[in-house]
Amino acid sequence: MSHPNGYPTVRLRRLRLSETARRLVRENRVCCDDLIYPLFVVAGRGVRREIPSLPGNYHWSADTILYEVEEMLKLGIRAALLFGLPESKDELGSGAYDPHGVVQEAIRSIKARFPEAYLITDVCLCEYTSHGHCGIVRGDTVDNDPTLALLARTALSHVEAGADMVAPSDMMDGRVGAIRSALDERGFQHVPIMAYSAKYASAYYGPFRAAADSAPAFGDRRAYQMDPPNAREALREVELDILEGADIVMVKPALAYMDVIYRVRQAFDLPVACYNVSGEFAMVKAAAAQGLIDERRIVMETMAGFKRAGADIIITYHAKDVARWLKEEE
Ligand code: PBG
Ligand code: ZN
Repeated sequence: MSHPNGYPTVRLRRLRLSETARRLVRENRVCCDDLIYPLFVVAGRGVRREIPSLPGNYHWSADTILYEVEEMLKLGIRAALLFGLPESKDELGSGAYDPHGVVQEAIRSIKARFPEAYLITDVCLCEYTSHGHCGIVRGDTVDNDPTLALLARTALSHVEAGADMVAPSDMMDGRVGAIRSALDERGFQHVPIMAYSAKYASAYYGPFRAAADSAPAFGDRRAYQMDPPNAREALREVELDILEGADIVMVKPALAYMDVIYRVRQAFDLPVACYNVSGEFAMVKAAAAQGLIDERRIVMETMAGFKRAGADIIITYHAKDVARWLKEEE
């Protein structure tokens, strides 16, 4: 006897039999509008150096970066996340808030040529401090409260240079509020903040730290970034960032934290971003280079997974490839 509400009457395979049927009932899609492409800016002119730890990604100077922005826009990616490697570093990370710093100059250069490019800046001190920590170091710890003023100053200098959005990644308590007040006081009420809200102390940042020369010279980031086993705490981080004025909240890394993306999506109604970080990218590249996986299928499956988990926005080093593959699927 067959079950009246089950097989053989019900056959889920019916809607899997053709590509058209599968597309009709597809629950989640990735599109270029979802993507943010990270870009690394360095000092100097005429620089275009491939980053060994992030194959296919480059260090650009403020002039050459125009080629990459042009290509990104042609592919249909409109938003970039800018990181800077300054010429020199100091204790207080002064290159981060230098009005003529590497990121500030890159923003001016890009906006002069491509005003339509949407420029988001990573706001942190670790690429600019001699000790590589994300704030002011006092003794053997990062001093939270005095760091806030420097982060706010950094964000403000990015926006004054023309940034469309700022993204604090330092994980200091109170930084979203400090940045919001600083922007509002200077008439930048309209500039949104994407907070790296649930950012974990992760080994998945390894290739980025090689690319950005931002590994801490002593200790690690566990006294400010989140402890990987915690999920409820991520909801508290997100809630506080929202109260301080975050417009978009982010979970980072993405792959090992899909449950966190899902929980944040369920608990809050703001746009949720996830950061498909350098270690996730590098693992795919290494396995693909060895012929162990099908890179295109792995990447597209991963992107679909982020959307299914609830991410609206995906920050990824694969962005240009994803854009190309999406075009081929049309
Ligand atoms: C800076 C920052 C990091 C990343 C983004 N912003 C590194 C870190 O916190 O050590 C990681 C990005 C990646 O791994 O792709 N605070
Ligand atoms: Zn940092």
